[in-house]
Amino acid sequence: MFQNTMIVDHQGRQFKSLRVSITAACNYACTYCVPNGKKLVAAQNELTTDQLVRAVRLLISTVGIEKLRITGGEPLISPKFDSFLQGVSTLGLQDISITTNAQFLEKKAKVILDSGIRRINVSLDTLNPLAFSKIARSGDLKTVLSGIDSMLDAGITVKINMVPLRSSNKDQILDMLQYCLDRNIELRFIELMNMGHLQHSNIYHSEFIGQKEILDIIGANYEFARTGSAFDSTSVRYRVLSNNLVSGPEKGIKNETGLGAFGIIANESEPFCRTCTRLRLSSNGYLYGCLSNSRRHGIHHLLEMEDNQAISQLQAVLSSALKDKQDRQFVGEYTVMKFIGG
Ligand code: 5AD
Repeated sequence: MFQNTMIVDHQGRQFKSLRVSITAACNYACTYCVPNGKKLVAAQNELTTDQLVRAVRLLISTVGIEKLRITGGEPLISPKFDSFLQGVSTLGLQDISITTNAQFLEKKAKVILDSGIRRINVSLDTLNPLAFSKIARSGDLKTVLSGIDSMLDAGITVKINMVPLRSSNKDQILDMLQYCLDRNIELRFIELMNMGHLQHSNIYHSEFIGQKEILDIIGANYEFARTGSAFDSTSVRYRVLSNNLVSGPEKGIKNETGLGAFGIIANESEPFCRTCTRLRLSSNGYLYGCLSNSRRHGIHHLLEMEDNQAISQLQAVLSSALKDKQDRQFVGEYTVMKFIGG
């Protein structure tokens, strides 16, 4: 068995968590992702399922990747989804999860459950059908909600990602939180990141809502307290202790976890670059060491090599990719979240 090597930088960071975008195509056209309402299509020269699975296997052997997240574009619309999931399920990873917009979750429920996956993340920005169509510019809210229910019914842990935007879903922050608390879902607010087309207009500055403002809005209805999160977690976590709008026993802490928890991925307010362990592989075969850096490292040619040769070359590639990480803070390059899946 090949001994994986320590590739570690001056801040002690290593790659432990891999995100694989299996396709750049998406069935939505979210306002913060694409400028013109045009849906993203698959990249040219996307890797095949076999190549993607082999890349994951080699990365596990090279640096001991422990966690895998399947992303896109939208991973559930890819014809590679079922076979990729089956392929990576046999590699001995500690944890596999999916980030999806949930439009096809119900349809894919059986494949997901059969693979042994225990958790998924759903991107959902609002519970209001009008705001939904304004932000996603496609899809159907009801289908998303029944997809989420199908996962909860099967005992899968669901997290929801919401990007609060001043003009379109700020008024949904409390409704989304209550929806999630009622279902034992952890809601994670993602501060808008200054990426892609947002860099070329004032949209980012006019739409951005930061951690403090989110907490102020929540504080009007709930008592909450900051709580711990995993060392390499990107989110600041809060426990909800009580609901000020409710009286009687329902108001306060039900058990040691309170009424539930929520998180804020506070890229701007509390940057987490110092503990970042993430590595990203795009659907067309490039590794990215940092979401905020457009430097990329092609690995197509490595996938043609014997294991030992591929692994020794990957060591050099990964040492170089690790240098792409930001020292402290997300600075936002054009790097396209949409291709590499957040
Ligand atoms: N800023 C913050 N979050 C974003 N996402 C996509 N683009 C941005 C952006 N510019 C979110 C998606 C998804 C997650 C992977 O990243 O909504 O939930």
